[in-house]
Amino acid sequence: MAAPSRKPIVAGNWKMNLDGAKARALTAAVAGRQAEAAGVELVLCPPALYASAVADALGLKGGVGPSGVALGGQNMHDKQSGAYTGEVAAGMLRDVGCRYVILGHSERRSLFGETDGQVNAKVKAALAAGLVPIVCVGESLQERESGRTESVVSEQVLASLAGIPAVELGRIVVAYEPVWAIGTGKVATPQQAQDVHALIRALLSRLSSPEVAATIRLQYGGSVKPDNAADLAACTDIDGALVGGASLQADDFLAIARAFG
Ligand code: PGA
Repeated sequence: MAAPSRKPIVAGNWKMNLDGAKARALTAAVAGRQAEAAGVELVLCPPALYASAVADALGLKGGVGPSGVALGGQNMHDKQSGAYTGEVAAGMLRDVGCRYVILGHSERRSLFGETDGQVNAKVKAALAAGLVPIVCVGESLQERESGRTESVVSEQVLASLAGIPAVELGRIVVAYEPVWAIGTGKVATPQQAQDVHALIRALLSRLSSPEVAATIRLQYGGSVKPDNAADLAACTDIDGALVGGASLQADDFLAIARAFG
């Protein structure tokens, strides 16, 4: 259960799914029922091409709309502008109403070769543009089975967040997503998740201070579904969820969000 100083945050990572009409319909369904998850911050992260349509459906002005549901990007480039064909800049995400941006998702790391150094540059660019980064970390199955979960996650957290001042660190969200749990239906046990979340909070404390670390929201991600969300939500250091597959259905997404309320 999130400490009172941390408002639970449940984000839907739609990945490369839906079309414009479905994106608008899902947005309207979530925004219209936001009250079901009172006290929980909801974030929708559509494909970048549909961010404007989702912003319109949310009635966003300056990142805030009547429903309180926020908009997020799934990725961005670390440069402000320039000759980077096919890329999206932090300022562009801000411009269309995004408040959040997912950075360092394991699919970006494994399929597109993103390194901790690149994630670090993106985190800095996102913060400079006024976006809140949702920084993803997590070990592979092989790394867990060889007992390297702690060292892998520690390295990712320390390298992805290197050189960020404590006051800025206080604004970020960290998502722990074990790679073996993403899209596989294999969820980490609440104890496995809580252990890594506690480790991440201890690392954040080292990077900032115990006071700042106590305010940073940590999401769990990886096959979160309505039927396992409550057990995860009950853990001390789990303050929300980053939801992939189940975020494509308003009923499932809202049921997960309610578990964190
Ligand atoms: P999943 O994806 O919920 O479909 O496992 C989570 C994520 O990749 O953020």
